[in-house]
Amino acid sequence: MIKKTKTAKKTAKKKPKSAVETVRRRSATRSHSSRGAKGAAFTVEAAQPCSPPDGKKVWSGLESAAPQDVPGRLKSSVDVHDPLPVAFAFVSDQHVGGACDYKRMREDAELIASTPGVFAVLGGDGCDNHVKHWAAVLASNVLPDEQVSAFEHYLDMFGEKVVAMISGNHDLWTLERAGVDVVRRIAARRGLLYGQHEHRILLRHHGAEYRLWIRHKGRFNSGFNSTHSHKQHWRTGEHAWDVGCICHLHEAALEPFWAHGEVRWACRPGSYLVRDPYAESIGFNAAVPSCPTFVFYPTKKRVVGFLDVREALVYLREARHEKGAKR
Ligand SMILES: [Fe+2]
Repeated sequence: MIKKTKTAKKTAKKKPKSAVETVRRRSATRSHSSRGAKGAAFTVEAAQPCSPPDGKKVWSGLESAAPQDVPGRLKSSVDVHDPLPVAFAFVSDQHVGGACDYKRMREDAELIASTPGVFAVLGGDGCDNHVKHWAAVLASNVLPDEQVSAFEHYLDMFGEKVVAMISGNHDLWTLERAGVDVVRRIAARRGLLYGQHEHRILLRHHGAEYRLWIRHKGRFNSGFNSTHSHKQHWRTGEHAWDVGCICHLHEAALEPFWAHGEVRWACRPGSYLVRDPYAESIGFNAAVPSCPTFVFYPTKKRVVGFLDVREALVYLREARHEKGAKR
């Protein structure tokens, strides 16, 4: 009887610990014995305290920080004063510095500048800016700094017709590598609306309202259906746009589709980068310059879309003439 009692007490003292507890205790013992071991090979003394940052101080800084001053998703509104139909052209992926169709690029910008009632929204990758791949920079005849200057010259060709711009992945490589948002600086200097990744524009045109949406890159891409991404963004996203533009893939596309009882328009601009060794190496088709353009009517909601700005502006001139504009 007495022996049995002693065994029971011993068992109670040696209650098994949890795995975590056991590991913690072992490591504590190890660290203690190593610091206090006799005959240690070296001793360490720090010149400055090397404790981790004060978490409370860091937290209060985080809590009181100002919101980021560069919106990744910019929301804006544009009021059209012109009482006649107007057009917005989505122009993207110019890739200045690369093997581009510069003549067509200049002509499109000049056409927009000289045609009444048409404006441009720029979708990113204005410069080739291969700072991520130094071999490409070294192989190029035009350095990134020169590309930015040429791109600014190109922007001048539009006159006052550029309304808004976003960055593309090539533009953002400078931000990733050097912390400088070049497109933001260009937009700020010119008084243009700028969203780093996305822009939602509420266009008000004499009683008619239109929701425009542009991103450089999108999710849900399909190699079989170039507007699949747009429709999935519309279905699962936050913004029920009327005209949605996703750039980046350099192959132009245009599709009207029905959603919640209204016609919506999905589009992708082409690219002026007509020779692209990277795209060729992975099997993409050659890019064709094409700037999807939409005509917006005043008073009553009506949108007419075109795959390229050139056809759109032929239509726009007629539509404005019908409403009383001189040819
Ligand atoms: Fe691009």
